[in-house]
Amino acid sequence: MEKKAIVLSGIRPTGNLHLGNYFGAVKNFVKMQDTNECFFFIADYHMLTTHPNPKDLQGNVRQVVIEYLAAGLDPEKATIYLQSDLPETAELYLFLNMNAYKGELERVTTFKEKARKQPDNINAGLLTYPTLMAADILIHRSHLVPVGKDQEQHLEMTRTFARRFNRMYKTDFFPIPRAFNFSDKLVKIPGLDGSGKMGKSEGEGNAVFLAEDPASIRKKVMRAVTDAGPTEMNQTKPEPIQNLFDLMAVVSKPDTVEYFDDQYNKCTIRYGDLKKQLAEDIIAFTGPFRERIIELTADTDYVNNVIEMGAEKARASGVPTVRGVREIIGFRKIY
Ligand code: TYM
Repeated sequence: MEKKAIVLSGIRPTGNLHLGNYFGAVKNFVKMQDTNECFFFIADYHMLTTHPNPKDLQGNVRQVVIEYLAAGLDPEKATIYLQSDLPETAELYLFLNMNAYKGELERVTTFKEKARKQPDNINAGLLTYPTLMAADILIHRSHLVPVGKDQEQHLEMTRTFARRFNRMYKTDFFPIPRAFNFSDKLVKIPGLDGSGKMGKSEGEGNAVFLAEDPASIRKKVMRAVTDAGPTEMNQTKPEPIQNLFDLMAVVSKPDTVEYFDDQYNKCTIRYGDLKKQLAEDIIAFTGPFRERIIELTADTDYVNNVIEMGAEKARASGVPTVRGVREIIGFRKIY
């Protein structure tokens, strides 16, 4: 890792954080806050692409702040802030959009997916989602962006926009940031529905949340998609089964994984036993998070203070960047 690298990452306020958010992103945030200058924010501007109602938006934003804290983010070590508390982000987004092209934005996989999912609401914000993300990252002149695998292409776009700006204005104002994970590759946590990744919008029962109660976790895991079982020794696991093993790999002890792997390879596995064990290990893992979420939810003043403090620190870092960009572009100094 670069020395004193500036770290930034964010999460959309879709409600509760799930295991994918934790293992793909927040776990790294918690580790990095001890060694780096870190900015972790809640992407409430980005959320507007799906037209939430104001009350839901407000509640969900607060929930992410609470869950960031419950997961171990420390407002004394890292800047925890709301994207909309740093409105200069929107100005930088405007500047970056002037050099972002329709063709390249239309080719982004997440845009194509979203356009398929919400055909009646393919708004300009959805198309320019990667430029807003680039603005988030570049406003603190960040170097490292801890994210899950699904954000890889967005990070590539940020690199392109940063390079393009530097080249156009013959400057090295923006560092070229990169996606980061402590292991050498980015993580994708699977869901419980047999395919793809764990995600909030992937359908009922697919995601397990840090705040979820044990009974609900048991129910979801026991309903996870499986198959009729292996028919040959040492056969490759089909996706739904591999997914359960992948989940086990992050929440269970290595010898538990080894035991069930062995059972699978010998064709003696009972999926019911595997699921029961997985559910209990998830419950043991999420339990402490759930408790802290309950405590923090009751501590309104503390959470408000964290938000206020974060806004101030984010502005201290972000406003000078946008001031610098304005000058580079050729605008008059206004503050
Ligand atoms: P979002 O809110 O979809 O997800 C937040 C973080 O969680 C990771 N993640 C996963 N990682 C592994 N496996 C999964 N199943 C899984 N599901 C989610 C995501 O990779 C992400 O790191 N566009 C971003 C928010 C954003 C942002 C930014 C991130 C806006 N501006 C600037 C970094 C830098 C998003 O929608 O993430």
